[in-house]
Amino acid sequence: MLEHDVIIVGGGLAGCRAALEIKRLEPDTDVALVAKTHPIRSHSVAAQGGIAATLKNIDPEDSWEAHAFDTVKGSDYLADQDAVEILTKEAPNTIIDLEHLGVLFSRLEDGRIAQRAFGGHSHKRTCYAADKTGHAILHELVNNLRHHGVTIYDEWYVMELILEDGEAKGVVMYRILDGTLEVVRAKVVMFATGGYGRVFNTTSNDYASTGDGLAMCAAAGLPLEDMEFVQFHPTGLYPVGVLISEAVRGEGAYLRNSEGDRFMEHYAPKQMELAPRDITSRAITLEIRAGRGINSDGSPGGPFVHLDLRHLGKEKIMSRVPFCWEEAHRLVGIDAIHEPMPVRPTAHYSMGGIPVNTDGQVRRSGNTLVEGFFAAGECACVSVHGANRLGSNSLLECVVYGRLTGRAIAQYVQNRKLPQINASTYINRAKTRIDSLLNQKGDLRIAKLRQGFQDSMSEHCGVFRTEEIMQAGIDKLHDLREQYSRVYLDDQSTAWNTELLEALELSNLLIVGEIILTSAFNRKESRGAHSREDFTERDDAQFLRHTLAYHSPAGIDIEYMPVVINRFEPKERKY
Ligand code: FUM
Repeated sequence: MLEHDVIIVGGGLAGCRAALEIKRLEPDTDVALVAKTHPIRSHSVAAQGGIAATLKNIDPEDSWEAHAFDTVKGSDYLADQDAVEILTKEAPNTIIDLEHLGVLFSRLEDGRIAQRAFGGHSHKRTCYAADKTGHAILHELVNNLRHHGVTIYDEWYVMELILEDGEAKGVVMYRILDGTLEVVRAKVVMFATGGYGRVFNTTSNDYASTGDGLAMCAAAGLPLEDMEFVQFHPTGLYPVGVLISEAVRGEGAYLRNSEGDRFMEHYAPKQMELAPRDITSRAITLEIRAGRGINSDGSPGGPFVHLDLRHLGKEKIMSRVPFCWEEAHRLVGIDAIHEPMPVRPTAHYSMGGIPVNTDGQVRRSGNTLVEGFFAAGECACVSVHGANRLGSNSLLECVVYGRLTGRAIAQYVQNRKLPQINASTYINRAKTRIDSLLNQKGDLRIAKLRQGFQDSMSEHCGVFRTEEIMQAGIDKLHDLREQYSRVYLDDQSTAWNTELLEALELSNLLIVGEIILTSAFNRKESRGAHSREDFTERDDAQFLRHTLAYHSPAGIDIEYMPVVINRFEPKERKY
């Protein structure tokens, strides 16, 4: 059995930032980080447009209070306002700290950090490194981990959270290189396992975003919070779904329908293309439904709208959003200097997740905590995004709450002993699970089942939802879950068995999908990204509260938890 003081699962921004903070504060603490990819291939590396903070470099009128208000309004008032206050107050120092770590932000002429406009923000406050901001930050953090002596287990897949008697004791992990199984016991376990974009058939997320941490928590009997709130980013490149950054609109690009109209004037006349994502994604979907989408030959009635950058000019496009230009050119053959890009909404981000307090400690219920267990980043729900996240607040959340969670762990771990674990029980369980997958005599390929699942989730829990559509989705999911026992694997080896890995990931996707659908089914109102055509209004009297969904093989139980409202009273959202 391996042992460390702290084991962090996930090599993206939140996990790396937490590890760094623990080592800065308590250099003798033995910290290890395990990730199923190399950390610099974590999905954080794909973050493009920027990270919000009221540095006031462009706009001296900006303030943390304005940032907090925009975030709470953007969340459709479901965000916990104490957590938002921390996020927005900490933001400026967080950026300076990143800069001191070596992150190369884009600059103004006078050398200060540049800031751009982003959707739902009332001031230009998004700091950026062209349109490769996640890449710039993650590389520096990973370099710093090595410098501080954090042990890194890269390309190990964590299969199980060891949770006994309300206490996290470690994890079971599988080495992808050769199939070795190991139990790691630790005084503290932290999850920073990212999102679940691969639940849907069109997503901006990488192949590794399969909700593993969320599913492991659910399987261990812990609740997941607000999982019905799935962010669909308005501008996924059609048909592949990869992200075309909001920065493109922040720099001034237009959305146009088949008639050439800037249709956002009908949906958000003040903010236009820089309305929050829930509103913009609905607007695009409604335009397409109304027959004002565009086909590949330019005719009306098609499945996408246009993102028009042409008026920005070559120099601005190539200096501010070069990666977006490159993606469209490489993937769909569009030269955005001369032609508009085809875009439509794509699954992008999970507002919900593992419920945590503002120290990052995981909740076992509305009012109890799990000993020895912390989480941060996209997999966690602290909740600063409520029902709809503003662009450029997610990198901020990862870095701010990664650091604060690291700080809390650095202190917490001092009073913990290494737990006792019967390692062989866990190893045997993992081995049995793997062997039964390898030996299963089924008739179904993983790719087919996964595609069926992703198509169902996109059809039954997309931008718009109704009871009827979701009930049909829940029924389909039950069938798909049954079919899991019919999958067979061609690859029986222990070396780099990616087919086995996909089978394990698929079982996680199925759990997460069912929780999303059931949570959405039970929220009979429209709020933020959860838009119901049978309950079109926000219903504060009944639903200004967080969902807690508990999964078990018998089904999903739903409870609710109060929202922290201590500064901004809920109002109608207008943009
Ligand atoms: O559009 C983007 O660049 C995405 C940013 C974000 O999700 O925060």
